[in-house]
Amino acid sequence: METVPSFITPFDLIMQKTSATESERISLLLVVGAIEQGGRTMAALLRKGPLLGITGSALVKNIQGEEVQKLDQIGQETFLSLFRRTRAVRSILSEEAEDPESLSVEQINPLLVAMDPLDGSSNISVNAPIGSIFGVFRPTHSDPASPADLFLRASSPLLSAYLLYSVSTSLVLSFAGETHVFTLDPDSGEFLGTGVPCRFPEKGKIYSTNEAYLPHWEKSLQEYAAWIKTERKPPMILRYIGALVGDFHRNLLKGGIYLYPAEAGEKASGKLRLLYEAYPMAHIAKNAGGIATDGKRDILTIEPRSLHQRVPLVVGPSDLVHEFQEMTGNPLSDI
Ligand code: AHG
Ligand code: MN
Ligand code: MN
Repeated sequence: METVPSFITPFDLIMQKTSATESERISLLLVVGAIEQGGRTMAALLRKGPLLGITGSALVKNIQGEEVQKLDQIGQETFLSLFRRTRAVRSILSEEAEDPESLSVEQINPLLVAMDPLDGSSNISVNAPIGSIFGVFRPTHSDPASPADLFLRASSPLLSAYLLYSVSTSLVLSFAGETHVFTLDPDSGEFLGTGVPCRFPEKGKIYSTNEAYLPHWEKSLQEYAAWIKTERKPPMILRYIGALVGDFHRNLLKGGIYLYPAEAGEKASGKLRLLYEAYPMAHIAKNAGGIATDGKRDILTIEPRSLHQRVPLVVGPSDLVHEFQEMTGNPLSDI
């Protein structure tokens, strides 16, 4: 007789983990429930995409000077309203708003959420993978610190997650030392996973980066990029989706390194944002046997100086990140 596979939900995963206190666990369940509901809503909207007229530009620029897409705004409103409703989130920081928003809370141990509600916005109009990224933090102070201060004192996330909207919708959750992959079952509306923690495979040979920027990289990085294609055994192959969530996900499952380094000129600090892009991916990678660095330091040890701070990001399985650091002259002895 064929065995029916048994699956677990994100709810089961959080209930299985004992590291959080009871009240914090309730806050986490409410937050993850909001992420799941947002994922269902976004996936349903994206299935219709251009038929709903939602795949174009909103014809405005965000605080970072980037063109805002209608789906950036829809993602912002969708997740914001769901987090407001949890009453378990003290403050929320988003790529799409200059200042964090303070929310009303009822839970004893409310949390902080930093989010990129829509990642990979240049992929929207061409029906290519996009996602949403979340870092969930424990507030370090219970005093009435300003919301901005709360985020600037945040350290490594308590829970991180991303949603990937592609052929199917994935939810990757990292919590209590493990990373788990769930898939949205469109029939039941549930996110289902195997319960087996996800680890980067060893000996991956993929690299993901926008090599058009190579002339603006530091010399050691240019040399690394040449070495991985020629002298390295085996040579690496390039895959680049242009959405951090999509590139990271492929690298997580197949073994690959993602690089968005600093560049000479305007992108001297790279492009990606520390609190809601680099931190969550670094945390997810760490709990899957990986490392994230800015080229010199572990991303998770960097203290944020500003809310929308950018940071160079190199993330992937430990063997590939160590190799990158050695080849570029900054071996990571302590990670
Ligand atoms: P966002 O859509 O949230 O602004 O993020 C886009 C980011 C990231 O997802 C992706 O890896 C990177 O921009 C791609 O940048 P390039 O087009 O410069 O390669
Ligand atoms: Mn992004
Ligand atoms: Mn975004």
